[in-house]
Amino acid sequence: MLLNAVAGHRVLFVGGKGGVGKTSVSSALGHALMRRGRRVLLVSTDPAHNLGHLWERKVGDDPTRLASSPDGGLIDGVEIDPKTVVERHFDAVLLQMERMLPERLHGPAKRHLEGARHAPGSHESAMLERIAEATELGLRDYDVVIFDTAPSGHTLRLLMLPEQLTDWAETLLRSRARSEQFSAVLESIVPHKEQPPTDRDAALRRTLIRRRERFARLRDVLHDDAAFVLVTLAEPMPMAESLELALHLDEIGVTLAAVVINRRSPGDAGEVLAERRRLEDVQVERLRAVLASVPTVELPLLRGHPSGEAGVDALAQQLD
Ligand SMILES: Nc1ncnc2c1ncn2[C@@H]1O[C@H](COP(=O)(O)OP(=O)(O)OP(=O)(O)O)[C@@H](O)[C@H]1O
Ligand SMILES: [Mg+2]
Repeated sequence: MLLNAVAGHRVLFVGGKGGVGKTSVSSALGHALMRRGRRVLLVSTDPAHNLGHLWERKVGDDPTRLASSPDGGLIDGVEIDPKTVVERHFDAVLLQMERMLPERLHGPAKRHLEGARHAPGSHESAMLERIAEATELGLRDYDVVIFDTAPSGHTLRLLMLPEQLTDWAETLLRSRARSEQFSAVLESIVPHKEQPPTDRDAALRRTLIRRRERFARLRDVLHDDAAFVLVTLAEPMPMAESLELALHLDEIGVTLAAVVINRRSPGDAGEVLAERRRLEDVQVERLRAVLASVPTVELPLLRGHPSGEAGVDALAQQLD
């Protein structure tokens, strides 16, 4: 059922409130696709990673094989560490700046960058670039990319308008008015109109254009190939938040492929759980009434915490 709902989307974002089962569901979905012979890249963007924990394997910045099937299906995992991404981003920017600027300006450039590192938007910009990179890798080498996203509003901001996020070069150009010291640097990069463009100017523009193109491609992918899978619980608070998120996705034009209602209580395992199930039913009905056109998939509460490939597989079987 969930597989039908996501069919045709090559980029999937699995999101929802903290602890509702995003990592479990994205892994189970990946596993179900793998069992059907698909090549899946599973990417965690959550700083508190639990992909490695769930799969009982060390997962890092490079794709790690999590499982494979005899017919060529596979699932590779990546954990993106936002802190490392930001560090690496700024190191690369610094290197590029040093290449483009005369040596006497390296000091002021470095100081400017240190300031920019903590400026609002810098973190998002670096993460967006890494997500764009992972998406490109996924579309090139895999059939499907699944993002296990952070619980905050962060992912949504990223999904919203990639083109709104500035890259470092634009930040530099903008900071001209603010930074006396840096305007000297900029003068050397961006010459006055009457002067012919220098090599440095051309290099800066090339970098700018490359990054713009990458963000533009990501934006196109988000609009054309991507879909969101919302994970929730049949409880009032998570449901209220999920409805809000669903409306938000609608506003920003991101397809909501399905809502997974996780950890549904069994109706035949004692009075307490039966009563809980009745309360959950009310929530589920409400959700279905509001999101009438969105498929909903229910996952039962399992006895234990799914872990290892067997645990993921057990959950995946429930998605069929
Ligand atoms: N269907 C289920 N039955 C039983 N336990 C489940 C089920 N789904 C998830 N869990 C358990 O619920 C807990 C939270 O799941 P998971 O880590 O997937 O959530 P998450 O949304 O990724 O959390 P976070 O926001 O912290 O990243 C885990 O202990 C997991 O083992
Ligand atoms: Mg998680």
